[in-house]
Amino acid sequence: MTVKILKRQFEEALYGQYPSEEIQSFFSILSEKHLGMTRLELTLNSEMILSEAISEKYRTALKRLQTHEPIQYILGETEFYGLQFKVNRHTLIPRPETEELVDWICSEAKTQTPAPCAILDIGTGSGCIAVSLSKNIAGSSVSAIDVSEDALEVAESNASLNNAAIDFFKCDILKEEELPGQYDIIVSNPPYVRSIEKQSMQPNVLNFEPASALFVSDNNPLVFYKKIAGLAKTHLKTNGMLYFEINEYFSEDMVAMLNEFNFKDISVKTDFFGKDRMIKCTKNARA
Ligand SMILES: C[S@@+](CC[C@H](N)C(=O)[O-])C[C@H]1O[C@@H](n2cnc3c(N)ncnc32)[C@H](O)[C@@H]1O
Repeated sequence: MTVKILKRQFEEALYGQYPSEEIQSFFSILSEKHLGMTRLELTLNSEMILSEAISEKYRTALKRLQTHEPIQYILGETEFYGLQFKVNRHTLIPRPETEELVDWICSEAKTQTPAPCAILDIGTGSGCIAVSLSKNIAGSSVSAIDVSEDALEVAESNASLNNAAIDFFKCDILKEEELPGQYDIIVSNPPYVRSIEKQSMQPNVLNFEPASALFVSDNNPLVFYKKIAGLAKTHLKTNGMLYFEINEYFSEDMVAMLNEFNFKDISVKTDFFGKDRMIKCTKNARA
């Protein structure tokens, strides 16, 4: 079968399920992976004959896309902050807004002398935050925790893949009374979506991404933040920084909560879409 015919069949099979630009993008991502060809190279080689084995890879991916499985799980990898990460159904797919959080932390760390050293990432998932900080903050020593053994396995392989030395620990943060050390930076992108928000979510997220990475109960949506803020009070060094990715609907509650915990310099930051998405604060010397 030629590239041209395969592409036409692929587009027809997904027509109506995804916008046409997205279908083109899927085909081009799969071609990059299976043929090592760019979109332009594909167009220039549209009469090229594909082997049965290669055509089968596209057909398998197609069937999975028809169920709305995310392309990142189909490929088993994604890019985050310029680095390559393995992902599977035990790990949340890293989001662009989390790249913005990482970028905020990195740019602030660069202006501080000495650069912050000890960093803890809580709820590491694929390890995207931990690995990116380790690679981009010179002299840092990064630890990361998650409740999911399966996620930690992926995070560990991502640390090796990117030559990052990270200490991983399995722990349920909601049950912990202590953290493993004292830190200059604690960062977390914990579960923060309420069950009532499910109705506005897409099937690719609801049916495929781990619910334990996404959801909190409607009546206690800040459960992770309160617990982590409490632990940060004793496990951040003086003037240490706490960074969170947050639910856009709870920025005011987050500011009030961090004030109650006596953190200073509390600052909310919007994401690319103008939604309140990140917050940072500093441990008060008198905390
Ligand atoms: C929103 S995901 C974030 C994953 C990754 N840090 C990222 O930004 O893509 C939340 C992570 O918290 C972990 N998690 C959920 N409950 C936890 C708990 N009680 N203790 C520790 N980690 C938990 C999940 O397994 C998941 O990996």
